[in-house]
Amino acid sequence: PEAITVQELANRMAEKGADLVKALFKMGMMVTVNQTIDQDTAELLVTEFGHNIQRVSEADVDIDTAADVDAEDTLKPRPPVVTIMGHVDHGKTSLLDALRGTDVVRGEAGGITQHIGAYQIKTKGGDLITFLDTPGHEAFTEMRMRGANVTDIVILVVAADDGIMPQTIEAINHTKAAGVPMIVAITKSDKHEANPQKIRERLLEHEVIVEQMSGDVQDVEVSAKTGAGLDELIEKILLQAELMELKANPDRAAEATVIEAKLDKGKGPLATVLITRGTLKVGDILVVGTHSGRVRAMLDDKGRQIKAAPPSLPVEVLGIGGVPMAGDTLTVVESEARAREVAAFRQERATAKRTTTAPTSLENMFSALS
Ligand code: GTP
Ligand code: MG
Repeated sequence: PEAITVQELANRMAEKGADLVKALFKMGMMVTVNQTIDQDTAELLVTEFGHNIQRVSEADVDIDTAADVDAEDTLKPRPPVVTIMGHVDHGKTSLLDALRGTDVVRGEAGGITQHIGAYQIKTKGGDLITFLDTPGHEAFTEMRMRGANVTDIVILVVAADDGIMPQTIEAINHTKAAGVPMIVAITKSDKHEANPQKIRERLLEHEVIVEQMSGDVQDVEVSAKTGAGLDELIEKILLQAELMELKANPDRAAEATVIEAKLDKGKGPLATVLITRGTLKVGDILVVGTHSGRVRAMLDDKGRQIKAAPPSLPVEVLGIGGVPMAGDTLTVVESEARAREVAAFRQERATAKRTTTAPTSLENMFSALS
């Protein structure tokens, strides 16, 4: 867009090319209609002819969330978002279930839990903690690569009776790459063959130095079976969160990250999102990925309908025009027209990308044909 031919500019202005050449001559420039002029000269000409300048850039059409920074005094504390990672069968699910059982609200409700891939607990002290239920290592990396780093803290689960395994190492590497603080939970501590000290020593080989080895990574022995160490784990999460001073502006149009999404036969597209800033409300108009929509209803992880979702709360959103992808950003916009404009722009861009990307390998070629 830096240069344009005189004729092209004339066409856009609905003027004669010869008139532009004349005007340029008066400005001291000898050019023909087929020659190019730079943007500044073009703008000068446009104003000279009494037209308005309209620069159309992507930012005018798409939403520029990065440029939209919240002022320091609008920020309020928000609950930490914690992801649990570790080797297969090391007790990830069991630990999550046990932690869920510590939720005072859920305890009272009678234990009917709905799986939405993410949930929030209220501790005995009244603090809130959001847990992301096994996004899987691939999903974690994928979301990180797409800039959707929603995790504040990683809990690395290592079974005391097994030790450091390939996926433990993978989890350590992912966590380090994401620059997220880690808390080591040495689980299955109730088992008689448990050897927590051996785990602490083996972690040294992967440059994870826990407190008991004079490092600064918090560690705790837990058992999902007996409940031992769970309160201590929660304390450590809250301590780590406090150090991080996690904050977000709750009083603005909401932004959220898609954790998972699916198409429900009855309800239509459903997306579990984590609010990153602002407060999402029923009736809000939104854009998420290439889809637009309006929040028809929101459900929390206990399956209850809620009217407003503040930062760090995971909710299931109904009313999106299609199924978004994990890692997509959901943004609330001011009007349906704006939502449709942005969604259409993104769809067009996505289609253009698909059609201009040439197949690079035989496999791609076949998948492109199918
Ligand atoms: P996901 O990958 O999320 O499915 O979890 P996971 O595979 O890491 O482990 P899961 O919680 O499914 O537990 C694996 C096995 O270990 C199950 O048979 C559990 O009952 C058992 N287990 C988990 N935690 C404990 C524990 O603290 N003590 C004992 N004794 N057994 C446990
Ligand atoms: Mg399992």
